[in-house]
Amino acid sequence: MKLAVLRERRDAEKRVAASPETVKKLMGLGFEVIIEAGAGEGASIPDKQFEEAGATIATDLKAAVKDADIIFSVQGLEAADAKHAKKGAAQLAVLNPFVERDRIDAYASAGLMAFAMEFVPRITRAQSMDVLSSQSNLAGYKAVLDGAAEFGRAFPMMMTAAGTVPPARVMVMGAGVAGLQAIATAKRLGAIVSATDVRPAAKEQVESLGGKFVMVEDEETAAAETSGGYAKEMSDEYKAKQAALIAETLAKQDMAITTALIPGRPAPKLITEDMVKSMKPGSVIVDLAVEMGGNCELSKPGEVVEVHGVKIVGHRNVPSRLAADASALYARNLVHFITPMVKEGELAFDFEDEVIRESLVTKDGAVVNERLKGEK
Ligand code: NAI
Repeated sequence: MKLAVLRERRDAEKRVAASPETVKKLMGLGFEVIIEAGAGEGASIPDKQFEEAGATIATDLKAAVKDADIIFSVQGLEAADAKHAKKGAAQLAVLNPFVERDRIDAYASAGLMAFAMEFVPRITRAQSMDVLSSQSNLAGYKAVLDGAAEFGRAFPMMMTAAGTVPPARVMVMGAGVAGLQAIATAKRLGAIVSATDVRPAAKEQVESLGGKFVMVEDEETAAAETSGGYAKEMSDEYKAKQAALIAETLAKQDMAITTALIPGRPAPKLITEDMVKSMKPGSVIVDLAVEMGGNCELSKPGEVVEVHGVKIVGHRNVPSRLAADASALYARNLVHFITPMVKEGELAFDFEDEVIRESLVTKDGAVVNERLKGEK
């Protein structure tokens, strides 16, 4: 069994889908591991470390994937490269299938068995394979640090001989995995933290981290959570009530960290230009949803802009800004995913298994995932 790990090609992508630790684990499962030259550079893992762990280095993508039965990467093969892979090879990556449907079709045409890691169901058994959680957790932490770096004040209250520095007030919008880590990080730095969400279940989690929960609660919120734990798009009436509450709360904050997402839909717009205007000069907004359209009307993907005296941070691909840790966790997620599929040194996919069924997007020349059927 040969397993290839690709060098990432997309802008601002520094992560890699393996670490020396996971190379050893994969070899223990019976894989021969081939790493494309330079794959670990962005995550501070030189080829030599991969070699010392037992991997072989391939000079380029073609050489890496030629005989591979499994291909690991973060962002997935580009459509044009799919043809270089062996027919029937399995590919594990974050594939962004709703947005990049053409690429999924190219995988099908090339006969690849592609797994979208973001589709792995969030069931207890699959927690160790959950790339959304491992990466969002780091993004939530980094968002606070990115915000702090743009903020011209301190986070904690400081009592000094020259006088008292007041604590910063941070509001976190969207209390999922990233939001909860942002709350914990901002608290650790000494800020006074509040948070909002549309799922009432978030209240207890926010409070257990020492945050104040602020939300519009009505009949609609009782049904705001899907069976998978995700948020639904809210009605216009709810959105108006929520906007009034956010406007009132935001004006008193120094920083907003926004993380609100709805699967398969544009991010909800939670901060309008008028709300930005109402914030104190020098305030900071960090918009983690910027790549899904943004939670703030004024955020720009890949930029830090200043509007009405407020800095709005819109870094893309925030997990990649912590490439070493993000890679280590992502690489382990992939090992946890593949381990149950290796039986006595052979690959054996159980297509009836819920984890496989839900994450498999292409097989035998066709797009096979239920969530993608009818998308075209
Ligand atoms: P996400 O990244 O899809 O969304 C982030 C947060 O934004 C969510 O908490 C969501 O409710 C919130 N949100 C959406 N629309 C909003 C709006 N209009 N206003 C305010 N907030 C809004 O969510 P994430 O982080 O992927 O977590 C989703 C769920 O999955 C959570 O319930 C989490 O606890 C659960 N989960 C379960 C796991 C498991 O293995 N059982 C693992 C990880 C997460």
